[in-house]
Amino acid sequence: MPQGPSSTREIPETGSIPKHIAIIMDGNGRWAQNRYLPRIAGHKQGVETVRGVIKSCIERNISYLTLFAFSSENWRRPTDEVTSLMQLFLGALEQEITKLHENGIRFKVIGDLSKFESKIIEFIQIGEQLTAENTRLTFTIAANYGGRWDIMQAMRKMMAQSTNLPLNFEEENLAQYLSMSYAPEPDLFIRTGGECRVSNFLLWQLAYTELYFTNTLWPDFDEHELELAIQSYQQRERRFGRTSEQIQMGISAEG
Ligand code: IPE
Ligand code: IPE
Ligand code: MG
Repeated sequence: MPQGPSSTREIPETGSIPKHIAIIMDGNGRWAQNRYLPRIAGHKQGVETVRGVIKSCIERNISYLTLFAFSSENWRRPTDEVTSLMQLFLGALEQEITKLHENGIRFKVIGDLSKFESKIIEFIQIGEQLTAENTRLTFTIAANYGGRWDIMQAMRKMMAQSTNLPLNFEEENLAQYLSMSYAPEPDLFIRTGGECRVSNFLLWQLAYTELYFTNTLWPDFDEHELELAIQSYQQRERRFGRTSEQIQMGISAEG
């Protein structure tokens, strides 16, 4: 069953600290190009940023951090860049899994893994198993992930596994098969790099997520930038369809 309530079925409890932050790490290529470096230099620097953001999330008691690392559409990039990204991913897995475990972090990967080379799949499986019982922070990498792919694969699993599924099946019937069913819906979505789009990230789960866009390129996204995003989140009124008056009067739902 999905972790935490569905924002469209009931009103989730919210606080000033986001429980789940989901980030589109964009702008690595431009960061490198601004310095007359190859794009991959930006991706390498981006890995450093990931380390910093994990640390900041732990310090702020954030429970879930989800990072979009490679989209189902990123295969359209030049072969050289895709190959370098895969090498970087493999290298990062090799280096970081033990460190994540030592720091009490649960590691997860969402996305269609079947397209990855076997070594990468192996490291992901080792990492997920090793860290499965950790509770400090759930750190998810979305790799070869697409929001539409996710809904489609959930639909296929639901249909394959449920006999006598009624035609008017409910949200919950499907939601349990989504690849992030272990996490609550994100409270805060951040996209770096200046584009204001979702690029096929967590389409289902972003239904009532607060969106934050910054021009800062991912390699420059530091603790202070994260703080700014959280401060922006803290100024939002999360209404989930209700009026402002209802919220001020502490009414959670009508009727
Ligand atoms: C995001 O940075 C990383 C990936 C998509 C893998 P980009 O590589 O998209 O950087 P820009 O947008 O070209 O600057
Ligand atoms: C989104 O960035 C995907 C990741 C960060 C992994 P892109 O750079 O691929 O997005 P578009 O193509 O500009 O929408
Ligand atoms: Mg980009």
